[in-house]
Amino acid sequence: MMRQAGRYLAEYRAVRDKVDFLTLCRTPELAVEVTLQPVRLVGVDAAILFADILLPLDAMGAGLRFAQGDGPVFDRPVRSAPDVDGLREPEVERDLGYVYDAIRLARRELAALPPEQRVPLIGFGGTPWTLAAYLVEGGTSKSHGHLLSWSWQDPAGLARLLARLAGVSARYLAGQIAAGAQAIQLFDTWGGLLDARRFRELALPPVLRIVEALRAIDPRVPIIYYVNNGGHLLAELATLPVEVLSVDWRVPLDRVRAAVGPAKVLQGNLDPTALLASPARIEELTVELLEQGAGGGHVVNLGHGILPNTPPEHARAFIGAVRRHGARVVTGQAARV
Ligand code: CP3
Repeated sequence: MMRQAGRYLAEYRAVRDKVDFLTLCRTPELAVEVTLQPVRLVGVDAAILFADILLPLDAMGAGLRFAQGDGPVFDRPVRSAPDVDGLREPEVERDLGYVYDAIRLARRELAALPPEQRVPLIGFGGTPWTLAAYLVEGGTSKSHGHLLSWSWQDPAGLARLLARLAGVSARYLAGQIAAGAQAIQLFDTWGGLLDARRFRELALPPVLRIVEALRAIDPRVPIIYYVNNGGHLLAELATLPVEVLSVDWRVPLDRVRAAVGPAKVLQGNLDPTALLASPARIEELTVELLEQGAGGGHVVNLGHGILPNTPPEHARAFIGAVRRHGARVVTGQAARV
């Protein structure tokens, strides 16, 4: 699940009552404690490193804060070619070493758990386009006026920012693999803002750069690419050289399968708000999801982040339904892909 370590868990809120979000990310012992909470409490098949996609932007000098109730804020947004030149080139081991420490510690602690909880660890980062969506706006935005205006008025300048972000992301994620991340997920939360042609021109080239760089380091580490609101981008997604395509709930998995073919594993895509339904309804919806995903490899997941008001019991109902029905629905394949 996305944000599987998060506010819907009382045990997470108890840690957050003591420290702010960035301190939590920067303190490996605490980051690992909350990374492992969903493994123990909900029974997921993988741990997701506790961190945030925006941390490398802070290391580039943009001044990241999480304001109470407002989400992320950048003190120094980047909106022009001179702003791009003003960004620092981070030294990932020095500036983001706390993330790598958390990965090493999480791997050690996972190895010491009982066998059924000894799950793999997933590292992650944002795609350059999605990182830019926050960095250019100076935080979360609904309309993305600064970013889209820049994209029309000076596409070459924006492409330079995206290339800088691709270079930093490639080094940052290579470091995650070196520290022990066993798969890498790239989050393209705002990729769906673009029509297919602009997605191909602006958003895809920097993603390909990252994928190529990670392949050169270790071609065995699976890459999961997530796009939100990307139902109109299926032809583009089919061309991405990644093992796993993760999509939001607005596009049915059988339609994605028809567009991308049998080779790719699909990940997703229960509507996170469906976890607010009754456990019985969650079970029915999960069986439907398993059926839609049955045409090939399927990593069951939500279509976006779990909501903070989700009862943990409902998250467990979702996972329990996969355990109970996965093997039956996906005949001939293992229930736990
Ligand atoms: O369990 C996990 O999934 C691991 C950790 C994780 C977090 N953020 C922790 C977090 C992951 C994988 C992310 C990814 C992330 N961060 C994305 C991509 C996925 C998506 O949701 O679209 C994005 C866009 C961000 C940036 C970000 N971080 C925003 C916009 C916010 C504020 C919005 C919100 O939900 O409050 C965050 C904060 C954040 N990152 C929280 C968590 C658990 C909530 C913070 C808190 O505890 O107060």
